[in-house]
Amino acid sequence: MEINWIGWTDTGAAKYLDQTLLPKQEVYREAHTIDDMIEAIKALRVRGAPLIGISAAMGLAAAAAEQEDLTHEWLREAVSRLADARPTAVNLVWALDRMSRAASRAFDDGAGSESVVASLRTEAQSIWDEDTAMCRSIGEAGAELLDDGATVMTHCNAGALATGGIGTALAPIYVAHEMGKTVAVVSCETRPLRQGARLTSWELAKEGVPVTCIVDGAAGTVLANGQIDIVITGADRIAANGDSANKIGTYGLAILARTHDIPFYIAAPRSTIDLSTPTGSAIPIEERDGSEVDAAPGARVFNPAFDVTPASYIKGIITDRGVIAPPFTDSIAALFS
Ligand code: MRU
Repeated sequence: MEINWIGWTDTGAAKYLDQTLLPKQEVYREAHTIDDMIEAIKALRVRGAPLIGISAAMGLAAAAAEQEDLTHEWLREAVSRLADARPTAVNLVWALDRMSRAASRAFDDGAGSESVVASLRTEAQSIWDEDTAMCRSIGEAGAELLDDGATVMTHCNAGALATGGIGTALAPIYVAHEMGKTVAVVSCETRPLRQGARLTSWELAKEGVPVTCIVDGAAGTVLANGQIDIVITGADRIAANGDSANKIGTYGLAILARTHDIPFYIAAPRSTIDLSTPTGSAIPIEERDGSEVDAAPGARVFNPAFDVTPASYIKGIITDRGVIAPPFTDSIAALFS
């Protein structure tokens, strides 16, 4: 990829591209403390389910390195505070669980602070590296679904900016593009924070993939008039039965796609599948501040950040272990067996 969106500084702090300022400004910031990373996650400076997990892991490793005396108690509290930063993306708690287990192993081995910090940093880097590989596998599996000349509709940003690699929903597009197929993208704007218009179009344009942005309200028209071959979105959490939470507006797209006989796919790594959540009704949905909607003073605002698409609307889930089909209760269980 042409872009560089996360990294470590020379002193071991976590470095990230502030996505709230894209596409107008490319500003990098550093997280040295747990509070720095919580603020970045809550404000959506880093966002997208896999990237939230990776960033939290890197932020934890960076903050641990600044502790004079690293204790179990400090780590427990840091993990619990980071885990509360955003509720819907399961990748956050998934990554933090891995970090806790890595720290416990190091403490159990009688390691001092320096070795525990080294273990945390190694684990954070592994989480990032594994996500990079999972994105690539999703891309290779999903590229098979894209014919030369296909047009893909997507929502929000499930590209590189949302992951540690080439993205989830955008990964098949990047791989098809690398293979020499002509693939175009229609990116829904994604109200209220416009991740589709600001971020998806920014990264696709940088990679030379043709992209057209539409306002969310135009999706019905575009899906009805035969311009779209396939809809692919990411997910923040997939329940054990395949119900999938993703950015608000995804559910409506799935219904429209079904109405117009266009296949609707979710693309996600296994770290986004939560076997402990049986159905979509158990997925916690983040409600964000009403100020994001920019309504008139005095108006009440309801601002859920995600919705749940029932499994029955999903033709397949493009995972890092291939494309799985309904019934998802069985195909998801088989992914982990
Ligand atoms: O609120 P955001 O921008 O973090 O929401 C992101 C999404 O909904 C993405 O589609 C999802 O996290 C998948 S990212 C690969």
